Amino acid sequence: MIDIGKRFDEVAYRYDTPDKLERSKKIIEKLVSVLPIDKNWKVLDVGIGTGNTAVYLSPYVKEIVGTDLSTGMLEVLGKKIKEIGIENIRYYKKDILKEDFEEKDFDLIFNAMTMHHIDDPEKAISRFKEFLKPKGYIAIVDLYKEDGTFHSDNTDVKHFGFDFDEVKRWFEKESVELVYIDNIYTIEKEREGKKREYPVFLAVGKVR
Ligand SMILES: C[S@@+](CC[C@H](N)C(=O)[O-])C[C@H]1O[C@@H](n2cnc3c(N)ncnc32)[C@H](O)[C@@H]1O
Repeated sequence: MIDIGKRFDEVAYRYDTPDKLERSKKIIEKLVSVLPIDKNWKVLDVGIGTGNTAVYLSPYVKEIVGTDLSTGMLEVLGKKIKEIGIENIRYYKKDILKEDFEEKDFDLIFNAMTMHHIDDPEKAISRFKEFLKPKGYIAIVDLYKEDGTFHSDNTDVKHFGFDFDEVKRWFEKESVELVYIDNIYTIEKEREGKKREYPVFLAVGKVR
């Protein structure tokens, strides 16, 4: 069994790059334009990592609770929020898909570039609902279906992105109303000397 937490520990201190920060900013700009976001909202960020997206979301909400499997990624997050002086992000080293988690009543469960590392995304959505308020929101940002060339090492990659029908199916099965789905960003990478484009989608659902 691969330990995803340990894999991210290895890259944690070189994870943040200018292009990732730029991408995260754009993602949050889109997210807040789609959601009826509120200063009283409590948000759960599953796979918060170094907090690239959470940092941009933090001014819009009351608080963000993050979970992650990687001590290294959370260490970088801890230093970052201390340096910037962000007081409304807290975090746990925890797999809420498998372990008990006491916190409840979230207005939004968010995850960015995490779902492709999770075995069963549909089961994850069912689990997310346990922590949401009635009529709470789920927002997923991830890679659109790709050919397996996005990551240079696919050891901890469980899915080569997702297509919209797949995401719609998870939501439908779990009684989550689809509010928005579209590609919102394109990541460019060079692969075998050629420029490749990898679209990233945002899907937002509201629990019925
Ligand atoms: C590609 S990084 C994305 C980090 C961050 N969301 C961002 O947008 O920069 C994926 C993160 O998900 C975490 N992760 C993977 N599976 C997880 C799980 N079941 N629960 C919590 N975190 C998980 C990894 O440790 C890693 O930090």
